[in-house]
Amino acid sequence: MTADEIRTIAVVGAGTMGSQIAYQVALSGYPVHLYSRSNERLTSAVGHCGKLLLKRVEKGKLEQTDCDAAMERVSTTTDLAEACGSADLVIKSVAEDRRLKRDMFSAISEVAPEHAILATNSSTMASSFFADCVRNPARLLNLHFFNPAMVMQLVEVVRGPHTAEDTVTTAMEFARRIGKTPVLVNKEAYGFVANRIAFIAMQEAFKLVEEGVVSMEDADLAVRNGLGWPMGMFELADLVGLDVTENILSQGHYQTGEERWRPTPILTDHVARGELGRKTGRGFYPSR
Ligand code: CAA
Repeated sequence: MTADEIRTIAVVGAGTMGSQIAYQVALSGYPVHLYSRSNERLTSAVGHCGKLLLKRVEKGKLEQTDCDAAMERVSTTTDLAEACGSADLVIKSVAEDRRLKRDMFSAISEVAPEHAILATNSSTMASSFFADCVRNPARLLNLHFFNPAMVMQLVEVVRGPHTAEDTVTTAMEFARRIGKTPVLVNKEAYGFVANRIAFIAMQEAFKLVEEGVVSMEDADLAVRNGLGWPMGMFELADLVGLDVTENILSQGHYQTGEERWRPTPILTDHVARGELGRKTGRGFYPSR
């Protein structure tokens, strides 16, 4: 299938990532079916992304008519068959739970058209984990977006051993058509590329603070002012979510057996206290 043949998109999962992926795709002119099991989550996704788009209108970065058109292009549903039945590309963005993801892929594969590309936005699970759940693994791969998905340019296109060449080519072109910069990841290495670099750097920042070498605030200042990264590692963890960060690290430890991924107390203690970052109003820092 070519990128020209992608006309309708389904996004499965309306959390932080899924909702912004849906609206990014809609902004680029594609009709999108956004699925969640929960009506409340769908309402909240529409409300939150609507506000983000309105802010762009107020700042003069988006025309009101383009904002309205994008809002109209997203239809929400709690019916998976309705979401995926006419989709040429399904992007799954549900919680990082292997059993849940496998069940979702089996269900999606039953209701999506034979020709549809099925993509997972998972950051910790390569599409190989699901290859036996779908009818056509040649059409399966990872399309990995970054948080916030309407802002960050990168999409990692991760080739699995089962992924057909034309699926990879089409996914790369689709990412460009939605205004993103795709990077092709040729092997299913843990963390792919950007997370592998960022989260190992984050581990170093955590260790420097735990060892008393530097304060958390100064570690973040060093990364921002010395490396020119937009956020320090503690700020980034708060943005991503400390529970998500812990999961990425512990999956890294589990899947690679490498000690460098093992989450350390500075992170796990916050998670145990329910201080999960911006989403709970407090993580390493209180939310602004
Ligand atoms: N959702 C949507 N849009 C957001 C946003 C959010 N949560 N936060 C900020 N923005 C938008 C703002 O509205 C603003 O948009 P305009 O340019 O259209 O006005 C733009 O982003 C810049 O925001 P601000 O001016 O408020 O602040 P900033 O200049 O400090 O940028 C940032 C904020 C874009 C988040 C920037 O700090 C940044 O790039 N941080 C690094 C983020 C990063 O590394 N993300 C990857 C995380 S790892 C990951 O996602 C992978 C994974 O698997 C978990």
